[in-house]
Amino acid sequence: MTLGIMMLYPGQEETYYNGIGKCSVNMGISVLLFTPQGADLSNRTVDGFRYSKDKGWVQGTSPLPSFIYDRCFYQTESDLQTFRPIVQQLKKRPGITFLGHGLPGKWAVYQLLFAHSAFIDKLIPTISTSHPASILRFLNEHKAVLLKPVSGSCGQGIHVIEKKKEDFILIKQYRKHTSKKAISEHTLIKELSSILLSNRMIAQPFLNLQTPAHEPFDVRILLQKNEEGRWVERGRGIRCGKPGGIVSNLAARGSVMVYELFMKRYTDQQKADIEWQLQETVRYLPGLLEERFGSLFELGVDFGIDLQGKVWLLEVNSKPGHKVIVKTNPQVMPQLWEAPLRFYQYLKKKKEVDHRVTTITH
Ligand SMILES: Nc1ncnc2c1ncn2[C@@H]1O[C@H](COP(=O)(O)OP(=O)(O)O)[C@@H](O)[C@H]1O
Ligand SMILES: [Mg+2]
Repeated sequence: MTLGIMMLYPGQEETYYNGIGKCSVNMGISVLLFTPQGADLSNRTVDGFRYSKDKGWVQGTSPLPSFIYDRCFYQTESDLQTFRPIVQQLKKRPGITFLGHGLPGKWAVYQLLFAHSAFIDKLIPTISTSHPASILRFLNEHKAVLLKPVSGSCGQGIHVIEKKKEDFILIKQYRKHTSKKAISEHTLIKELSSILLSNRMIAQPFLNLQTPAHEPFDVRILLQKNEEGRWVERGRGIRCGKPGGIVSNLAARGSVMVYELFMKRYTDQQKADIEWQLQETVRYLPGLLEERFGSLFELGVDFGIDLQGKVWLLEVNSKPGHKVIVKTNPQVMPQLWEAPLRFYQYLKKKKEVDHRVTTITH
């Protein structure tokens, strides 16, 4: 049997896949790298690259893998339209197991968590919005409001609106830079109408989740299932955005910092208190998400910390990048390469046992 790693563009996460490839040889596992477009569903084959000990990735045609590690990051609407239908078909196909199923958008995740007492005081009050009037109303309650696309990532498409005496400040986050301008209510409504037309958005109060030097920062914790199918924390790190910026994402030119070093700015009591708040959240989060949205292999959980040391759950990613963890904890790299392989072995064994039980009971 083979573990297929499915991704969209050759060259993406190359070091990660090479690491997995090298480990697969030692573990006696066959690994295949492919794109959804390489799958031929009617012939049950796939064009891709199989890892070989001597030659590295070797191109060829193979049978469809029975286990798939989905690392497809849809960056554009055209990515979604081209690749997603194929991925959906693969998911439905009997005999194929995905290591994890992705999470739905930010609003669906928020609604689930909001209904559970364990998360209630960690969640930033959020509304789903499709009309400028609701954002203007929200702005009467909060000095500044942050808008984010429900299916956004990398900080892209995030907007902050601040209410001033006469007018409004609108800050827009593009991929690598921000723009800031003062505008009238009339112009704001026009801008919001066009933003809301092209994206489903949620709105939250814009909290002060910044360092004293006004750098937005967050804590990223990487959780994965281990070889026994149990959730473990693999590592954590800090992402720190540009001073005066609104997001901490690395794609928006943020930088990383070692968690323990960054936390030196807090007293021991504050550190213990923050740790308790983080632990309390990650303890229940994966189980609850899986119960509703299906099984998962890994999660990248992002937390903000405000000036009072209060922890806020910002976002949960089911296809987390590993950069923050790798850069701040390089020693865990081999563990990260082995993790999908070990979890694949666990799932494979489980599938075999389940199959035997069904065969016996029938
Ligand atoms: N309500 C908020 N108040 C202040 N900063 C926020 C808020 N929501 C998000 N941010 C900042 O924006 C970043 C990106 O937000 P996030 O919800 O993770 O969206 P994305 O999917 O684009 O990464 C966060 O990491 C944090 O730095
Ligand atoms: Mg994020």
